[in-house]
Amino acid sequence: MTERAPQPPSDSDIELRLLMEAIYLKYSYDFRDYTGASQKRRVNHALGQFNLPSISALQEKVLHEPAFFTRLLQYLTIPVSEMFRDPAYFLALRRQVIPVLQTYASIKIWVAGCSTGEEVFSLAILLREEGLLERSQIYATDINPASLEKARSGIFALDALRTYTANYQRAGGVRAFSDYYTAAYDAVRFDPSLCANVVFADHSLATDSVFAETQFVSCRNVLIYFNRPLQDRALGLFHESLGRRGFLGLGAKESIDFSGYVDRFEPLARAERIYRKMP
Ligand SMILES: C[S@@+](CC[C@H](N)C(=O)[O-])C[C@H]1O[C@@H](n2cnc3c(N)ncnc32)[C@H](O)[C@@H]1O
Repeated sequence: MTERAPQPPSDSDIELRLLMEAIYLKYSYDFRDYTGASQKRRVNHALGQFNLPSISALQEKVLHEPAFFTRLLQYLTIPVSEMFRDPAYFLALRRQVIPVLQTYASIKIWVAGCSTGEEVFSLAILLREEGLLERSQIYATDINPASLEKARSGIFALDALRTYTANYQRAGGVRAFSDYYTAAYDAVRFDPSLCANVVFADHSLATDSVFAETQFVSCRNVLIYFNRPLQDRALGLFHESLGRRGFLGLGAKESIDFSGYVDRFEPLARAERIYRKMP
């Protein structure tokens, strides 16, 4: 029987690959190993927003207008976040991870893909309530400079507060959530002391390497956009960064089950996607 030749890629798949290559060569942002579906969704959305007829037209602007690329980056990354997102995750941290961290003299935490900071502030609040914030160093990293800038400001939209407050309570919060922020017009500013030990920094899970030994890595809703080899690259960084018996937290739709690291971590709270490095 003759083997059927593989189908050639469609024109738009070719354009998409060329666009990712152009972005990588020109700006060193590496989206080449993001899943095809997420690339397509983001790029099609950008085409609509910029009113451009084709991916090739987008590429033309990317190559010749660096300021345009900065705007496009907001569409290629997905800066969607929420405080105490998936409250069960934060409750499991409080009950199963924090008691172990409390036995350490000092701790380092890496929040990878921190976006606009909601996850970082949630963790900082949790650590403060558990008496750990003062001896914690948090590295909060992302590839999107605009998101990092917003995260540093600690300012969030007032209209999201009702959801955040409900999440906080479901995550085992022990105080009034309003203790942590002051409201001004349509925004709230979180207590800057929550961020006294936070370093916000540019870091790509696709191209950069490990920068510190940590006891806990929280990387939520980022791997979901990566293909299998890139997921393994990121998990390799987390494994290398984590010290002995370190903890790893992923997003609700993420797992290490089908990765090359399935034998290197054991589930601690499987449903909440919290793992522990194997001895
Ligand atoms: C959906 S947000 C997740 C935010 C937060 N972790 C949460 O769960 O609410 C995904 C974030 O991953 C970041 N990201 C995408 N690719 C990345 C990469 N290669 N390295 C680091 N961060 C990346 C995006 O910029 C975006 O801020």
